[in-house]
Amino acid sequence: MQDLLLKLCYLIGSVTFIVGLKMLSHPDTAKKGNLVAAFGMTIAIIGTLFLYYTGDLSDKIINLIWIFIALIIGTIMGTVAAKKVQMTAMPQMVSLFNGMGGACAAIISIVEFKHLMHEGSADLNNLTAMTILVGLVIGTVSFFGSMIAFGKLNGNINDKTLPMQQVVNIGLMAFIVILIVCIMTGMIASPVILFYVLLGVAALYGVLFVMPIGGADMPVVISLLNSFTGVAAACGGFLYGNPVMLTGGILVGSAGTILTILMCKAMNRSLTNVIVGAFGGNKAGGAAQEVGGAYKEISLSDTAVLMAYSKKVVIVPGYGLAVAQAQHICHELEKVLEEKEVDVKYAIHPVAGRMPGHMNVLLAEADVPYEKLLEMEEINPEFAQTDVVLILGANDVVNPAAKNDPASPIYGMPILEVENATHVIVNKRSMKPGYAGIENALFYQPKTSMLFGDAKKVLQDLVSELKGM
Ligand code: TAP
Repeated sequence: MQDLLLKLCYLIGSVTFIVGLKMLSHPDTAKKGNLVAAFGMTIAIIGTLFLYYTGDLSDKIINLIWIFIALIIGTIMGTVAAKKVQMTAMPQMVSLFNGMGGACAAIISIVEFKHLMHEGSADLNNLTAMTILVGLVIGTVSFFGSMIAFGKLNGNINDKTLPMQQVVNIGLMAFIVILIVCIMTGMIASPVILFYVLLGVAALYGVLFVMPIGGADMPVVISLLNSFTGVAAACGGFLYGNPVMLTGGILVGSAGTILTILMCKAMNRSLTNVIVGAFGGNKAGGAAQEVGGAYKEISLSDTAVLMAYSKKVVIVPGYGLAVAQAQHICHELEKVLEEKEVDVKYAIHPVAGRMPGHMNVLLAEADVPYEKLLEMEEINPEFAQTDVVLILGANDVVNPAAKNDPASPIYGMPILEVENATHVIVNKRSMKPGYAGIENALFYQPKTSMLFGDAKKVLQDLVSELKGM
């Protein structure tokens, strides 16, 4: 009976993960999808805690006390962190949480390796040992890589490339494979020492493979680390014969892998280069093209007139819109313009902001209709028929260096081709660069006018100006 109930809990958990993941694929259902999956996870945890263990009752009680202490500490920390975090710091938090998943998977491998060694069987040439070692490597890489990604997104760690970075990374990967073979075949006497060497090498690889990633390439690494955590968790599920852990891990692993492939496509990068490290532009090896000259500014009232008398306006949201929390007033602007019979659309670049889908989530929060958000491939051909492009806190995703400067770190990344529109208005607070840290020649083009100021304040004033017309 207990076994049947446990299987039922796991079935509910697995099904709700799949349904929840499906619901996450659309902004309208995403919030509910998250709750559905969380409900399934709660059922699976309760089932595991109370129905899984069949051994000695006093052991079970002692274990449950420890587990509940950890659960309470984790719940308090997670809830406080999630409630307190600023929307702009969300990507760092996601990296941190992802790293914790990787660490859990690595710890499971360490514990299970100890069990295996205590069983006294020196034979490690089996699937269980292989799963433990693979889980250790992937979990450790995910933890250390995620910690470096956290530091980078938080602005504490700068990009650093070692001399011969790619050779070093390939060397470390080869060393990892050799260590696994040595442990499993017993070629070298002490598997325990080799096991900890493997842990150290995986940690070093995790640090070195994320360290040089910079410019605009972080999104690819983040989704790759996410898929690593999923695979590592699936290894744990396999070890314990736990179907819900296996399903969850496989879902995270496969969803993360699909996202990584999509991100690679969006950034025009190759997956092999991501894994080896030090990828990105500047294949020409020279210095980036000089950008500068005079730029022109536009006043609020001129912007209002230009937009009010346009047939078609495209808004390009970027990270600055999220920083300013100007999504609601942006939606208000769209409605005011539509009352004046202006056709308004949004151009969504796949890596605008700081996390996958950042702009979709931001604008959905302000109830912007989903049909108004057009992906890069859909909107790019429309710029030629657009009267005004209003760029709100976006920079790298509209930087023409990605197309015409082979020495630029973002070279090769597809961008929103806003320069094909009749007028381009850029709202940001200064001439400072965006995430990739590079100048943007778009700001100096004759079609472009700068509208300086915080996005929220500028949009509030623009809406009042338009309402008064
Ligand atoms: P960015 O290139 O980072 O540019 C954002 C711009 O917003 C800045 O130039 C900044 O200029 C402006 N800004 C900041 N606060 C503002 C405010 N309150 N009001 C108005 N403007 C403000 O953003 P993007 O174009 O969205 O590109 C995203 C970048 O982040 C890409 O390089 C991408 O690869 C990277 N990235 C993306 C992700 C994902 S998954 N989306 C993850 C990690 C990294 P001022 O300081 O002059 O105002």
